[in-house]
Amino acid sequence: TTEPNPTETRATAPQAAEQPNAALEAEITRRRTFAIISHPDAGKTTITEKLLLYGGAILEAGSVTAKEGRAHTKSDWMSIEQQRGISISSSALTFEYSGRHINLLDTPGHQDFSEDTYRTLTAADSALMVLDAARGVQTQTEKLFAVCRNRHVPILTFVNKMDRPALDPFDLLQQLENVLQITAVPLTWPIGDGPDFKGVYDLQTGQVLAFERTSGGKHRAPMQTAGLDDPRLLQLVGADLAAKLKEDVELIEAAMPEFDAAGFLSGELTPVFFGSAMNNFGVEHFLSNFVELAPPPGPTETTLGERNPEAPFAGFIFKLQANMSKHHRDRTAFMRVMSGHFTRGMDVTHTRSGRKLRLSQAHTLFAQDREKVEEAYPGDIVGLVNPGVFQIGDVISLDAKVALPSFPRFTPETFATLALKDVGKRKAFMKGLTQLAEEGVVQVFFPTDGARDPYLGAVGPLQFEVFQARLQEEYGVDVELNITGYQLVRWLAGDAGSVARFARHVEDDQGRPVMLFRSKYDLEYTAEQHPEIEFLPLPKDL
Ligand code: G4P
Repeated sequence: TTEPNPTETRATAPQAAEQPNAALEAEITRRRTFAIISHPDAGKTTITEKLLLYGGAILEAGSVTAKEGRAHTKSDWMSIEQQRGISISSSALTFEYSGRHINLLDTPGHQDFSEDTYRTLTAADSALMVLDAARGVQTQTEKLFAVCRNRHVPILTFVNKMDRPALDPFDLLQQLENVLQITAVPLTWPIGDGPDFKGVYDLQTGQVLAFERTSGGKHRAPMQTAGLDDPRLLQLVGADLAAKLKEDVELIEAAMPEFDAAGFLSGELTPVFFGSAMNNFGVEHFLSNFVELAPPPGPTETTLGERNPEAPFAGFIFKLQANMSKHHRDRTAFMRVMSGHFTRGMDVTHTRSGRKLRLSQAHTLFAQDREKVEEAYPGDIVGLVNPGVFQIGDVISLDAKVALPSFPRFTPETFATLALKDVGKRKAFMKGLTQLAEEGVVQVFFPTDGARDPYLGAVGPLQFEVFQARLQEEYGVDVELNITGYQLVRWLAGDAGSVARFARHVEDDQGRPVMLFRSKYDLEYTAEQHPEIEFLPLPKDL
């Protein structure tokens, strides 16, 4: 059932009921928590910037990638990200638009960090899929889309870079249907592309939003509107494009499915918008539609059934991050409020350990800036200083011993050994290793003979580089990384005695027996030789 057991309510707990229910309801209704998914380079960073611009969170859009002398977007803060111009760690940005409180979860686009993205998506109520108009659905789009699909996350689509030569819009929609098996319903329609891009036609209101190139797209793009039969249309877009548009619109009206909110909310259908983020075109129009279409926070699935957002306060941890800035050398836990009214300093229970915690250190996660968070509502993301109790997937709650049924983990596919260059730094090394592994940057496996250095496991090799750079930067430890020939890891299950006798195994950071394999063949052969042992892709208790 949804309702927590009242006998578990602690007498000392601050009563969430102080807040009249109507007020809580109103706060929930106006929240929109979403993440952007895209293949690298499609324009996620640019769109993020422009959304923040419209939300008034930043005054002037900075540059997208880290170029010398140009501002970084607020969410792009780690030096390795800046050097590479890639986004590695997620942060959470918040802005208000049209009376709505919007939380945008930033996710890394590089595939080596898919696990981080995967977890972040557990905290989002909807996702914006950004496509490059010339490239359509790309490999990383597909993978991230699959994650959203599995979780039935409603997806909106923005086709970006219309100011460049683009694929035919009908072909693009077809691609969405064929590759992603999602019904694509255009809500706007592009007029021309590349140098001839003239704007978009709003299929719902029948207005034309004319595109005007502004210098560098730094400020709000001006918009003129005219209906399809407006004589100014000819003047705006020229005779050829006007005729083509009329034809396209007739075809859309005759052959395309209509937008259906229920289909969208269940992840079966995606509304599609066209624009050019760099030129600020189509972004605000998207945003004004987004706040109407995207759902507010809904119930969270827990071990005690679905928990409604109106229930007393509870939240879950979906990300841990050490040393978020040079000014704050501590560990931050990213918590999504799943229900109730959060107030700073409240006493809660850490449901996994049963420990009581006072949440006095709560702050925003807007990149380097930290502001205290006094209160938060379902869908909001709060940064909690982690004294070392939180693990990813943990729940804190005011009233009930709820937990999440499961939390996504990826199986590492590449393994490295580490050699410490200065043995005098062993203590700092172990601290860095523990904290970074806890974040999930890498997974650590210890040889059981105790003699050799630990193995690191990661989804992609870029994670090792980040690990190495962060050990250096944040813990002052130099290590040499050597990629090994191992490609697979399996957790061992079965009779304890047999597992203990099993040779050449290592242990994960929780002391669970694990074995590394060089190939699929190696794994199959070993499994055949040892029918008494189970070889699992993830530990049994996950
Ligand atoms: P990402 O976060 O998804 O990786 O993409 P990002 O926003 O960094 O955009 C990737 C590149 O595409 C950037 O170019 C960016 O300026 C460009 N871009 C984004 N939106 C548009 C658009 O609407 N039209 C066009 N023509 N380009 C767009 P870059 O070469 O990496 O940087 P820069 O030289 O533009 O600064």
